Amino acid sequence: MKLQKFSEHQRHIGIIGHKISHALSPAMHTAAFKKLNLDYDYGVMDVTPEMLPNLVASLRSLNFRGANVTIPYKEKVIPLIDEVSEEAKMIGAVNTIVNNNGRLVGYNTDAHGVYVSLAYYAEEIKNNHVVIFGAGGAARATVYAVAKFFSPKRIMIVNRTLDNARLIVEEFTPKFRLTKFFYTNEHEVITREIDVASLLINTTSVGMKPLAGLHPLPLNAVIQKHQIVMDIVYNPIETTLLKMAHAAGAKTIGGVEMLLGQGAKAFELFTHNEFPISTSREAVLKELMQSHTNDK
Ligand code: ATR
Repeated sequence: MKLQKFSEHQRHIGIIGHKISHALSPAMHTAAFKKLNLDYDYGVMDVTPEMLPNLVASLRSLNFRGANVTIPYKEKVIPLIDEVSEEAKMIGAVNTIVNNNGRLVGYNTDAHGVYVSLAYYAEEIKNNHVVIFGAGGAARATVYAVAKFFSPKRIMIVNRTLDNARLIVEEFTPKFRLTKFFYTNEHEVITREIDVASLLINTTSVGMKPLAGLHPLPLNAVIQKHQIVMDIVYNPIETTLLKMAHAAGAKTIGGVEMLLGQGAKAFELFTHNEFPISTSREAVLKELMQSHTNDK
């Protein structure tokens, strides 16, 4: 009897990516399942690009409730699934797939992660200037969430490869009329915009291990006390950028908040249960401390 029930229940969930042995989603979700006594397991599916189509197809049949998707497949999974939410379409990336009885539906919960990380500061962002570093998948979700939920006056996108930033500006300009979008990689222009911004967000991998000593700001840029500084990098827990912001007396938001925020929304889509955030925060911090100890 019990075995039969088991096989009918879509009990598997996992994260799809490549070179992701240090992913924190397994610990984060497993702690939540355990806390709520839910019969799911969560694994790592580290696949090469050639293996991706078969893996995604197999989610339909192998008792999978769904999957999270990470680097480098957030865009590549889109043509492999059956339906994509409006939000994920606008962002151009899927980080969560839900298997609805054989129909694979894609969502982007990164935007929700950005929203919950910044919600407390909504008034300080509205009608003000925002500088976002990066123009990759995480940047797209971040630009979308900041424009949609907080309506700043300006968003400046700063990126090493200017073309990637230009594409985001061109795509989002007609979609969010209350915000003006700009892009640059010129240090003087960036420094001037940082001077008048209320919010700075790093979405690049600059500052992430093994680039932990680095930060994305130009040499002459100065962080001010009234500013909000967010980094989506969570390893190390306090990046060099956040250390600088902290030293300047600014308000700081670390990458763990976004990780938990996107995880919460994905968890709710998978299980229809509320995410036990403090349990999962504890599990994530424990893993990060452990990796920090192992590095020493
Ligand atoms: P993600 O999905 O995490 O956003 P991604 O799409 O690979 O990952 O984007 C990585 C971002 O970090 C990009 O903005 C990238 O800049 P480019 O568009 O110029 O590649 C940025 N980035 C990565 N390594 C960098 C480095 N060493 N210096 C500056 N920017 C870097």
